[in-house]
Amino acid sequence: MKLKLEALLSLGIALGLSSVFAQWLDVASLDSGNSTKWPAPALTGGKSWGDAYAKASALVANMTLAEKVNVTSGILGPCVGNLGGVPRLGIEGFCLEDGPAGVRPVHGTSQFPSGLATAATWDVDLIYQRSHSMGKEFYDQGVHIALAPVTGGPLGRAPRMSRNWEGWYADPYATGIASYLSVKGLQDAGVAATSKHFIAYEQETFRNQYNRTEPYSIFPAGEQRSISSNLDDKTTHEIYLWSFAEAVRAGTAHMMCSYNEVNQTQACHNAYTQNHLLKGELGFQGSIISDWGGQHDNVASALGGLDMAMPGSGYGQIFGSLWGENLLELAQNGTIPEDRIDDAAIRILMPWFWLGQDQAKLPEVNAIPAYYNGPNGYRDIREAETAGLVRRIGAEGATLLKNSGVLPLKKPQRIAVLGNDATDNAIGTNACGTGYRDCPKDNLNGTMSMGGGSGYAYAPYLVTPLDVLKARSVKTGAEISAITLDTGVNASIQSLLPNSDVVIVFVNSWAVEGFDRADIKLHPNHDALIAAAVNSSSNVIVVMHIPGVVDVERWIDNDNVTAVIAAWYPGQEAGNAIVDVLYGDVNPSGKLPFTWAKSYDDYYPNTIIADAVTAPQSNFTEGIFIDYRWFDAQNITPRYEFGYGLSYTTFEYSDLLLDESTAHSDELAIQETNEAFAESEYTSLYDVLFTVSATVTNSGNVTGSEVAQLYASIPEDDQPPRVLRGFDKVKDLAPGASSTVSFELRLKDLSVWDVVKQRWYVPRGEFTFSVGPSSRVLPLSTVWSKST
Ligand SMILES: *[C@@H]1O[C@H](CO)[C@@H](O)[C@H](O)[C@H]1NC(C)=O
Ligand SMILES: *[C@@H]1O[C@H](CO)[C@@H](O)[C@H](O)[C@H]1NC(C)=O
Ligand SMILES: *[C@@H]1O[C@H](CO)[C@@H](O)[C@H](O)[C@H]1NC(C)=O
Ligand SMILES: *[C@@H]1O[C@H](CO)[C@@H](O)[C@H](O)[C@H]1NC(C)=O
Ligand SMILES: *[C@@H]1O[C@H](CO)[C@@H](O)[C@H](O)[C@H]1NC(C)=O
Ligand SMILES: *[C@@H]1O[C@H](CO)[C@@H](O)[C@H](O)[C@H]1NC(C)=O
Ligand SMILES: *[C@@H]1O[C@H](CO)[C@@H](O)[C@H](O)[C@H]1NC(C)=O
Ligand SMILES: *[C@@H]1O[C@H](CO)[C@@H](O)[C@H](O)[C@H]1NC(C)=O
Ligand SMILES: *[C@@H]1O[C@H](CO)[C@@H](O)[C@H](O)[C@H]1NC(C)=O
Ligand SMILES: *[C@@H]1O[C@H](CO)[C@@H](O)[C@H](O)[C@H]1NC(C)=O
Ligand SMILES: *[C@@H]1O[C@H](CO)[C@@H](O)[C@H](O)[C@H]1NC(C)=O
Ligand SMILES: *[C@@H]1O[C@H](CO)[C@@H](O)[C@H](O)[C@H]1NC(C)=O
Repeated sequence: MKLKLEALLSLGIALGLSSVFAQWLDVASLDSGNSTKWPAPALTGGKSWGDAYAKASALVANMTLAEKVNVTSGILGPCVGNLGGVPRLGIEGFCLEDGPAGVRPVHGTSQFPSGLATAATWDVDLIYQRSHSMGKEFYDQGVHIALAPVTGGPLGRAPRMSRNWEGWYADPYATGIASYLSVKGLQDAGVAATSKHFIAYEQETFRNQYNRTEPYSIFPAGEQRSISSNLDDKTTHEIYLWSFAEAVRAGTAHMMCSYNEVNQTQACHNAYTQNHLLKGELGFQGSIISDWGGQHDNVASALGGLDMAMPGSGYGQIFGSLWGENLLELAQNGTIPEDRIDDAAIRILMPWFWLGQDQAKLPEVNAIPAYYNGPNGYRDIREAETAGLVRRIGAEGATLLKNSGVLPLKKPQRIAVLGNDATDNAIGTNACGTGYRDCPKDNLNGTMSMGGGSGYAYAPYLVTPLDVLKARSVKTGAEISAITLDTGVNASIQSLLPNSDVVIVFVNSWAVEGFDRADIKLHPNHDALIAAAVNSSSNVIVVMHIPGVVDVERWIDNDNVTAVIAAWYPGQEAGNAIVDVLYGDVNPSGKLPFTWAKSYDDYYPNTIIADAVTAPQSNFTEGIFIDYRWFDAQNITPRYEFGYGLSYTTFEYSDLLLDESTAHSDELAIQETNEAFAESEYTSLYDVLFTVSATVTNSGNVTGSEVAQLYASIPEDDQPPRVLRGFDKVKDLAPGASSTVSFELRLKDLSVWDVVKQRWYVPRGEFTFSVGPSSRVLPLSTVWSKST
């Protein structure tokens, strides 16, 4: 029955009939809040945590109920999240601090590039190094558990979702790679990772049911339910669960459940998603931590798989009186079995042992709730090489969208710099507060190096583009003249620009947690600034500090706009990173981690639901057709396709080869999932079946790096025309030189989800593998079919 309806669903998409979806999606039948139906599986420690399991269970066996409750329930303390310890057994409390762009809200640490800026590098080494370097900073500030990385919640389904910049690619495969690497990077540095937010967390509007500061609070406190993400089983597996599986494989210590409901059950109470999918199918051995305010009920959360209540009774109980004393009583009177609390405590303590945090003496936590210097004053723990890493990621992620030959900049030139985004915040670098959201409305905020909310991180300093252009002018011979106001400067622009050889306009768009972007426009003053610039100069370069797609249609085809760079939110070294690219010290190689549409309406409709009802519903009717999959299936031409980005050189692709002799078993799983699959000849869904390789040649005349991409066309009726299944970056290729790019294809990369048999299988028929510089420029291809 289900299969037939799945087929109807894809037909519905083809015909644009969401009513088919409405008939099909019977969310109640799944009973996702029923923990009797979806019980928590037994713990084993998995592939790597056997010793830790033994230690943690022995320790928990020695604890009183009150002590066990203490390690599962948040309390008031110096960090964003705090767990009480077990003083009797010598266990200190645990400190949890926000990420994922740095240790927040702590001073003496770095503001790393945002996830999106890092994603745009498509550089697995840089993705890992960013996380590893950040992990050391968490550890050196005394943090046990980092509330990072984002691992696919949000994934980027909704272009206006205001937290997409914290995460990675609007694609499960690439986000999976980034999730694996960033979990590993943090944990290799000794801090526990918290992969978040589980699952299908794709809008901020109505994300929680509290009437506090949100403009969307329409009903009295408690009456408004969180947005429900309603998605079918195939979409769950092929899109939203995929990257969490990679986080599990990397051995993520913790997972954070999200604010939304999933199929009308709160994510943090959801026995189906937490007990069945995450702990069962993915074999996750660590703990599930509630997002702050994601837990609404003491019993439903405990039985539904939550292991750690955050902030519990901290924060003056603004989210309610959660766990702690309540959990103690519920266990004492038998409402919650004590072994559920044992299980939660073991899940929390296992990674603590595994990471060696029981042996290590972490530095004393240096943070207080007022978010200023810690009790020991200002403590700087940054390492000398981190600034260089931040700068390099910013430069490698900068994505060149248009260039009519004006870049790299010639020397010497008269350069006009326009826009407040080129310079410092008028009232101080971190004046917009711990979440970059407290500045006065008309304040000139300066270079937007990071977005707002819990994903912000203090900048220890901010190198602005203007700082660097000026400092380098002695060497470049440039004359620099800057107008750093965004309004009231028409006359100045008209007098300065005709006397300049080139104009660089710095513009931005702000995104902040809690409020989805109202539209995809640049700051309205910035569109006017570009209009004034192009009216007075025929050589205007636009640099954008942005959280995702912005509407560029009013000016992108204007011949006076000679170059455009998406610089994302690049972190503290913003100015160095962009000037490296402008002058060609770094040849741009960033590529888009999402599809850049010509019009907002070209994306599938209804991604942000703002219906004024008590129980808002978001039906993921586009199913597996998110981002480029939608544009390809619907044959819509985007402004810039997924994977697009220009260079100062050119590349040629040749010699595609598919080599089955490279088959080997999975070598990357730190922990293994229990995902079922049809092909019994393999031991793991992650075994490598073959390698596809190609030659990339630098056919231009400057050294450059290229992100080669592999897309698979899977022979099954309901699949998109092509899906990303590999990427490989060749770095610093000299003019005329060639290098091999290679892509390992794993069993899972060829598989689709069977909703009836509840397992992955490789469809019969001809697969096409295409390789090239973007999702729509694929000069090479080869076919393959399953032989048995
Ligand atoms: C979502 O789907 C349900 C049926 O599954 C339907 O009743 C509801 O109207 C849909 N909501 C929206 C906003 O389309
Ligand atoms: C929960 O599931 C169990 C087992 O499937 C079933 O017996 C029980 O009736 C369900 N409870 C509710 C409230 O639906
Ligand atoms: C548990 O308690 C017993 C008795 O006090 C002690 O011998 C043992 O070492 C303890 N084990 C752990 C893991 O704390
Ligand atoms: C719970 O943790 C707090 C803070 O670390 C500690 O003061 C208290 O003694 C702990 N309670 C128990 C029962 O160990
Ligand atoms: C939400 O809270 C605010 C501030 O407490 C209050 O003024 C407002 O009336 C509340 N709105 C509703 C719908 O209850
Ligand atoms: C949501 O409900 C549908 C219909 O019962 C089911 O097929 C799907 O697996 C559920 N997804 C999640 C994530 O709970
Ligand atoms: C168990 O304790 C909880 C918390 O105090 C209380 O709300 C609940 O009614 C109790 N249940 C029983 C069966 O005593
Ligand atoms: C500056 O940032 C604040 C949030 O901190 C925002 O409300 C304000 O609109 C911004 N100012 C400008 C001119 O964009
Ligand atoms: C130019 O003048 C118009 C009309 O007064 C104004 O709206 C716009 O903001 C000005 N642009 C700049 C860049 O000052
Ligand atoms: C364009 O520039 C001319 C002079 O260079 C000026 O008269 C006119 O007002 C400008 N238009 C706009 C829209 O800025
Ligand atoms: C391009 O700039 C020149 C000034 O250099 C101006 O005269 C012309 O009107 C501009 N063109 C457009 C389309 O804005
Ligand atoms: C590099 O190639 C470009 C375009 O092919 C050409 O315009 C330029 O003169 C070349 N530069 C050098 C140094 O050869």
